[in-house]
Amino acid sequence: MIKLAIFDMDGVLTETSHYHYLAWKALADDLGIVIDEAFNEELKGVSRKESLIRILEHGNQLNKCSEDEIGRLMTQKNDHYRQLIEAVTPNDLFEGVIEIFQLLKKNNIRIAVGSASRNAPFLIERLGIKSYIDYVVDPSQVRGKPEPDIFLDAAAFFNLSSEDCIGIEDAKAGVEAINSAGMLSIGIGDAEVLKDADYAYNSTKDSYSYFETLTLVR
Ligand code: BG6
Ligand code: MG
Repeated sequence: MIKLAIFDMDGVLTETSHYHYLAWKALADDLGIVIDEAFNEELKGVSRKESLIRILEHGNQLNKCSEDEIGRLMTQKNDHYRQLIEAVTPNDLFEGVIEIFQLLKKNNIRIAVGSASRNAPFLIERLGIKSYIDYVVDPSQVRGKPEPDIFLDAAAFFNLSSEDCIGIEDAKAGVEAINSAGMLSIGIGDAEVLKDADYAYNSTKDSYSYFETLTLVR
């Protein structure tokens, strides 16, 4: 029986993954490195530092970057990203999120946020969903996706085993993380990108039917 649902944030609860892309694209442009949405697909769910390393490698510039320079570039990207999300309001929550949260609460299924983003607590506040969330994983304390740690950390917080948990993700690295945590994986978005997910839906709203089946068997 499922007791905990662990939601990714960017691209699952709200469309901030596009803002991450815009901020990385601006930084890459500055560095003279060309990235596009297809390249960005591989960055989804990946930590800030690892994303930057992949961009620098892609532009053959990793070798000439000192640790200080990497730190400076990470700050530049994050400052830009923070500007982009400054105006986020509850209206930016994806359709269906509140209905899913209410359904889970009604059935005593806990809700955690398992995002790779250090900005997740800020967004949870801005989106007005704090009262629904029982636990937020701190990604600075564990290995990033596609390692399973973010999902295992949430399960451990509630003293649950993996079979009691599901993970909801829009990123390839995220689905891989859920699968290697031994949890059921729900993919949101492109079925081809999410082909390793146990279930895939075009949108968060469409996944409501899955959460209904969860509560029917209770
Ligand atoms: C993930 C995003 O949720 O968080 C990635 O999909 C992002 O694109 C990662 O790089 C880290 O986010 P932040 O906000 O800590 O830079
Ligand atoms: Mg995501």
